[in-house]
Amino acid sequence: MSTIDEVKQKLDIVEVIGQYTKLTKAGRNFKAMCPFHNEKTPSFFVFPERQSWHCFGACSTGGDVFSFVMKKEGLDFGEALRLLADRVGVRLPSEIEKGPDKDEKDKLFQANEAAAQYYHNLLLNSPAGEKAKSYFISRGLSLKSITDFQLGFSPNAWETLKLYLLEKGYSETEMLAAGLILKTDEGKTYDRFRNRLMFPIRDAKGRTAGFSGRVLDDSLPKYMNSPQTAVFDKSGTIYGIDMASQIIRRQDLAVIVEGYMDVIVAHQYGFSNVVASMGTAITEKHVNILKKLTKNIALALDPDAAGEEAMLRCVEYENSLNTEVKIMILPAGKDPDEVIKDNPNTWQSSVEKAVPVIDYTIDMTVSRQDISTASAKSQVANNLLSIIAKASDSIRRDHYLTKLSKLTGISYTTLESALKVYLKPKPQKRGAEPAAPALLQTMVSNSREEYCLALLLQYPELKNQDEGLLPDYFQNTENREIYKAWLETDDLISLKEKLDPAFREKLGELLARQQHQNRTTDRYHDYVLRLRRDFLQSQQVIREEIFNIVRQSEGKGADIERLKQEGIELNNQLQAVSVELGQTKRRTENGNRRNA
Ligand code: UTP
Ligand code: MN
Repeated sequence: MSTIDEVKQKLDIVEVIGQYTKLTKAGRNFKAMCPFHNEKTPSFFVFPERQSWHCFGACSTGGDVFSFVMKKEGLDFGEALRLLADRVGVRLPSEIEKGPDKDEKDKLFQANEAAAQYYHNLLLNSPAGEKAKSYFISRGLSLKSITDFQLGFSPNAWETLKLYLLEKGYSETEMLAAGLILKTDEGKTYDRFRNRLMFPIRDAKGRTAGFSGRVLDDSLPKYMNSPQTAVFDKSGTIYGIDMASQIIRRQDLAVIVEGYMDVIVAHQYGFSNVVASMGTAITEKHVNILKKLTKNIALALDPDAAGEEAMLRCVEYENSLNTEVKIMILPAGKDPDEVIKDNPNTWQSSVEKAVPVIDYTIDMTVSRQDISTASAKSQVANNLLSIIAKASDSIRRDHYLTKLSKLTGISYTTLESALKVYLKPKPQKRGAEPAAPALLQTMVSNSREEYCLALLLQYPELKNQDEGLLPDYFQNTENREIYKAWLETDDLISLKEKLDPAFREKLGELLARQQHQNRTTDRYHDYVLRLRRDFLQSQQVIREEIFNIVRQSEGKGADIERLKQEGIELNNQLQAVSVELGQTKRRTENGNRRNA
């Protein structure tokens, strides 16, 4: 499997796109407001089975996970690949890893580093930083903590950081790319962070990837973060990891809290295995980073905020870590920093008394809900059984069933047989298109794309034969990018130069592919027709899915009308292709007969 395929296989398009826009379930698909343009009703759809997305509104386009990230982040294929490989923890071969933008990334880290020093220096040594410094001290921070975490202050002005960094030799383009400054529609640039307490966010290697800035009073938003950049991905960042990783490994335990202040205070009191998740839910990326250090994770989260969904995710992480995730129970209404400052022993003992997440869920659910009636009891049991079923280890499932039986008075055997319903994979709904053929279809059309590309690359004379092959007919982004580069270059050498190193493996493979030597022009004509048919068919499937969603959600009549029109138009085009393909087929058969 190529590295690119490996990255693709590890990615879930729903998870990736879900980080940019709120996805709502619609049957087996998802809908959302299009993240590329403003709209009032959702016209953006994600199809998990096909691992594709489509906007039938203003964009009127779609693609796979790579094309989404490229469009959204303004990246080229190689950059998107690096970003996504990083997220799923796939090590790229060094030539790809470096890529053309390695130097650019270093520059962003350096710009952030310079900004961190600037803010830190202002906090410690300027009159403007005085009130920020006393705020930190009033929250109980020592000077050592302020220095260790390089805390700072961004002054209440529009251009101080910008001018400082310009003088240090950084360009406005670099500052924009690092998210340190913003640009107005008129093209004026200004500092992003103003009048805020500054928390530099460092990666595991200790490089400053971004910032979070807190207001000094109660105004909102309380925290402002750097945007997503080439070096900063909020959902995969763990605050404090650079200071904590050694201790986590040594103590074989990582404690996750919610706030930056909580991390800093914990470290100040010697609890150096504490990190924070940047205010987002714990993601698989977080777990993947921590997994390299320890299998034991304890969450000190606000118990009310940790909803059922968060619990379910934890169970999934338990399975992938092959261990239990534990929940720490803290005195109600207190953030970890207050608990620790009040009495470090309270913290220590809640770490020791942390309970496995499923035990915790069972205890909470049973204690909070009324289970005096039979139907209420059965409902609570069913809810919990669906969670218990997620545990992959049968010994643990047995432990939870025993516990649930004790708490509810329902017999173990009854619970055990009820659990079976949740253990079985869900039966396929009738009428629903089975998942396997859809994937198979994508694979088949991908190999057709590749045959066609191999032909084009190996027979340069085909360049003069215009068959109307559109880049869109390539549904795989990697193939599409190679075709676009082929269109824009005259020979293989300049094609290779144009393409990112990430394409080298694939390119070599396509060039080495064995081909029939004869009838290349006919075969090219035939491939283009078939790719066009594949493309139209997949458009039709997508339109059908969207049509069903829009109709069920009682969407706008105009939308439905337009979808119908587009459906008819697609049908006509498909018929035309089929007729032409039929003719080609007959022609080829006749040709074969003549040759025979
Ligand atoms: P909290 O509102 O609990 O803040 O958000 P806090 O960390 O306790 O801050 P202090 O103690 O009042 O100073 C918890 C975390 O959620 C994220 C931050 O990571 C924060 O530490 N958050 C919160 C944001 O990213 N943006 C916000 O506007 C608020
Ligand atoms: Mn707090």
